[in-house]
Amino acid sequence: MSETLANLLQETRQFPPPADLAAAANVTAAAYDEAAADRLAFWARQAGRLDWSKEWHQILDWSNPPFAKWFVGGQLNVAYNCLDRHVLAGNGDRVAIEWEGEPGDNRTITYADLLAMTSQAANALTDLGVVAGDRVAIYLPMIPEAAVAMLACARIGATHSVVFGGFSADSLSNRIEDASAKVVITADGGYRRGKPSALKPTVDEAVSRCPSIEHVLVVRRTGQEVDWTDKDLWWHETVETASAEHTAEAFDAEHPLFILYTSGTTAKPKGILHTSGGYLTQVAYTHHAVFDLKPETDVYWCSADIGWVTGHSYIVYGPLANGATQLMYEGTPDTPHRGRFWELIQKHKVSILYTAPTLIRTMMKWGADIPEQYDLSSLRLLGSVGEPINPEAWMWYRENIGRGECPVVDTWWQTETGAMMISPLPGVTAAKPGSAMRPLPGISADVVDDQAESVPNGGGGFLVLREPWPSMLRTIWGDDERFVDTYWSRFEGLYFAGDGAKKDDDGDLWLLGRVDDVMLVSGHNISTTEVESALVSHPSVAEAAVVGATDPTTGQAIVAFTIPRGHVDTSGEAGEALIAELREHVSKTLGPIAKPRQIMLVAELPKTRSGKIMRRLLRDVAENRSLGDVTTLQDSSVMELISAGMNSGK
Ligand code: WT7
Repeated sequence: MSETLANLLQETRQFPPPADLAAAANVTAAAYDEAAADRLAFWARQAGRLDWSKEWHQILDWSNPPFAKWFVGGQLNVAYNCLDRHVLAGNGDRVAIEWEGEPGDNRTITYADLLAMTSQAANALTDLGVVAGDRVAIYLPMIPEAAVAMLACARIGATHSVVFGGFSADSLSNRIEDASAKVVITADGGYRRGKPSALKPTVDEAVSRCPSIEHVLVVRRTGQEVDWTDKDLWWHETVETASAEHTAEAFDAEHPLFILYTSGTTAKPKGILHTSGGYLTQVAYTHHAVFDLKPETDVYWCSADIGWVTGHSYIVYGPLANGATQLMYEGTPDTPHRGRFWELIQKHKVSILYTAPTLIRTMMKWGADIPEQYDLSSLRLLGSVGEPINPEAWMWYRENIGRGECPVVDTWWQTETGAMMISPLPGVTAAKPGSAMRPLPGISADVVDDQAESVPNGGGGFLVLREPWPSMLRTIWGDDERFVDTYWSRFEGLYFAGDGAKKDDDGDLWLLGRVDDVMLVSGHNISTTEVESALVSHPSVAEAAVVGATDPTTGQAIVAFTIPRGHVDTSGEAGEALIAELREHVSKTLGPIAKPRQIMLVAELPKTRSGKIMRRLLRDVAENRSLGDVTTLQDSSVMELISAGMNSGK
């Protein structure tokens, strides 16, 4: 990507940490030096944040790359580290989870409660014949039992495979089969957009095709009618009647903790395998360092779903290992009204919020007057994850949610990395809007060209990781070869993340999106993210998605799908004028080569349930092809609307 427009988009704003936060920060600039001086000793010190039943004798075994072993010979129990040790330290009465159901019901669960619930579930699973090493599928809404189910598996050494509750019976059965899971934990349904949405029928359909499943444990959440099979057991009759005493047994540091399938828009999903000691070390350290968590006073909220890695690492394992008090919310941000998030922050005095750019842009579209109606003064730190955050969305987040005061940490990582890898440190870094800034202490990320040469400052290329890290994926479940091919074959000895990135003149990192999202226009590599950011920097634009469509003259041509902000007039000539203005705006911001061939004004964009824009579908529309598979879409009617608009020439 040496020919990119990478340097044309100039972002010069910079926001140093607030003095009081910096003065009391958990982690200072010294951490970078300590890690640079001795990376392995640094990680060994972080592992010391946990309780180990048996000390490791080797920090890292990298004798058979890319298969890593961290904290070799060490033993620990992950659930013990998340629960028992806090209770034993006298913090059993501390709130672990303030849970809010979508319909307005709520539960307060202390660490002592969560330990009792997890112990019951561990006993019940053991009674059902689940033993260490078995796989358990979890298909639940965002209710506390989801965390309990995961922790119970961890406690008995069973490997969980959480499948997002929005996935179809096909996706669920494929994942159950791939891992040969023995038990599924599910619910009758959950609440979404103001009504109960069933889960059990999907499980019934999936399980009918999966002979490996012996039992289905069903939480009663909505009370809706369910069909019942001889494999089914109610959670309240099985788990809640079990003993609340359970002694955790220690497992090897490399004992498999969970499998999580990457959603994959095209190929067969990959079962990403994470293990115990290194994973828990890095999620706990990064949660402490990047969110500056003060467990006695902070109220933390990660708005992700437990079905994604963000929910695994930063709702369940990281925060609970650190003894955090957190909010957990079941539903959607616009139920029963568009102020729901801010109302929850006001009610629970949330101090740290971790959410996704797609949500921030949605809030931008709804308008700043909505958050303005709530008291958000409890917030002191804001985080972002999931995709590149456009500078304008970053600024909006800081200004309108963070009162222009809260540091914004843009955290880059992946299901495969298990934990954050590149992010500002809130007490140290003068953050730039839209940049994930620098690798965290102990992490060595770099940007290389297609010859694997590190690019100089100002250059762009492929994001790679040079050294193994504690929470790295250990393999793809059942497919070591695919693990090696996918991540370790593109550049010898380097982990290939699949993302484009650039280094600015200070050496800070800007993520540009997946490399398959780079367009080749008249021989120039142009990142979809940069054009999208240029569009979103225009005051009339709320959100944009850009694709490269085949073009007879330029190879690929830039086609942009743009959502105008609420107040903008897009009818007739006003719409045409806006389109012309936007093309000019991109040309001025990035250079004439990046001027979109075509801009469409649309009401919505096709997104996966994890909030990623499905550019593949937009490319189908732009190239007048029939649409590919739309089953992973959040709302499949979106595509019909967009195609109709395209055909009318709008
Ligand atoms: C891909 C990983 C990490 C948890 C949620 C997504 C993109 C993620 C950022 C960021 C730019 C980002 C990358 C990455 N991504 N965070 N802060 N800036 N891009 O996990 O589904 O495994 O997706 O999400 O493209 O490779 P995932």
